[in-house]
Amino acid sequence: MYQKVTLEIVSRLQEVVGDKNVIFDDPEKLENYSHDEVAEKEYAHMPEVVVKPNTTAEVAAVMKLAYYSNIPVTPRGAGTGLSGGGVPVHGGILMSVENMNRILEVDLDNLMVVVEPGVVTNDINEDLKKHGLFFAGYPMSLQSCFVGGNVAENAGGGRAIKYGVTGRYIMGLEVVLPDGEVVQFGGKRVKDVTGYNMVQLMVGSEGTLGIFTKIIIKLLPLPTAKIDLLALFPDVETAMNVVPLIMTKGGLIPTGIEFMDRLSISTTHDYLGEKMPYPETNAALLIELDGTSQDQIRDDAMSVTELLMENGVIEVYAAETPDTQEKIWKVRRNIAEAFKAISPVQSLEDIVVPIAEIPKLIPFLAQLSAKYDVLIPCYGHAGDGNLHATVVKKSDDSLERWKETLPQVLSDLYQKVFVLGGTISGEHGIGHKRKKYMHLVMGQVELELMKRIKLAFDPKNILNPGKIVDLN
Ligand code: LAC
Ligand code: ZN
Repeated sequence: MYQKVTLEIVSRLQEVVGDKNVIFDDPEKLENYSHDEVAEKEYAHMPEVVVKPNTTAEVAAVMKLAYYSNIPVTPRGAGTGLSGGGVPVHGGILMSVENMNRILEVDLDNLMVVVEPGVVTNDINEDLKKHGLFFAGYPMSLQSCFVGGNVAENAGGGRAIKYGVTGRYIMGLEVVLPDGEVVQFGGKRVKDVTGYNMVQLMVGSEGTLGIFTKIIIKLLPLPTAKIDLLALFPDVETAMNVVPLIMTKGGLIPTGIEFMDRLSISTTHDYLGEKMPYPETNAALLIELDGTSQDQIRDDAMSVTELLMENGVIEVYAAETPDTQEKIWKVRRNIAEAFKAISPVQSLEDIVVPIAEIPKLIPFLAQLSAKYDVLIPCYGHAGDGNLHATVVKKSDDSLERWKETLPQVLSDLYQKVFVLGGTISGEHGIGHKRKKYMHLVMGQVELELMKRIKLAFDPKNILNPGKIVDLN
């Protein structure tokens, strides 16, 4: 039903964005745009052509051409996604926003910044440092991901309990619609209830409703003081019981509370060639505190440490300097690599449950692992219940059995998560990786509404088709 990209289309694209911004007939270069960070190769798909527009007008012209020629277009940021959101599953045009990487305006009077979608997220904060401000969105890949992708996925990360996720800071968007129309949603207004909240409908829409060409972001004063605590526990339950206590009894909201289970900790220590300091550790929390006064943060760290001591912790390490902080974060940062070394054949999951349910989820993962004979390490953002349980193929297992087993493991896992009041993605999105499981956590009425929203924006289904929900 879609048209193929012909030579004539290629030359019209070249006219719009310039020859050097079109990649065609070069499989090696096209391959870079055929996948994101999803490990499973089956989710990759080659684009027919890659275009790299420089301006809103160019994005609009490409969309008009695609719309009237009935060619699918997949927008793409840095390709750091984890659900296949930026993968062109129907081929067609892959639109990379990599050239649209300007910070357009730092508006100190309104505490906002206006950026293009291809700016690396961390670069925004580097630029804002001199003003004592920052953008509080904090995806774990912030050194490489693009802010446009963060908005498209409503990226979360490790600081959501205190700062929320990306969407909280997105005040306005310039959007090119599938038919090439350019619209402005929101603006620099802190309050706005004029009609539906189109900005927040766009946030997390995974590039299926429109392409962002300008993003208006709200800023906060930059915290100057930070302390990290690494707390080791004898079991998951003891660790998780402390999480709400920090906020209730402790009376403070940490920047983040990260969780690691025993399998994650021990495998990553082995991978790094290091010994686990306390072999009886079965769970660890990384608690981050930030603020504007070092003395205040030290007091906070002290009271959290006392609370941990009263509640069954084995040992607490505190880190005040960047070096020591890096050291206690080392295991958390290397978990994914450690399991890739065991087997690149794996499925990184992104489940989210109410935090009080985490102790019920972890023993279930052990049962699943035994039932299906796969590894399921679990780590992630304990403070908000968003956990990256990762199903990993054992090295002596066959690929055939793995292919049969994985969908059963995921189906069991997702059903359990749903029963616990959770869902299948907290921050990585649905893309096409999780699309077939949506019905496990969402009713028919809600799914139909989502389809109708998609069709209202994109009646020809040419913008990032094949993602989130199938239309027929
Ligand atoms: C993390 C990514 C996988 O939390 O979301 O490390
Ligand atoms: Zn994460």
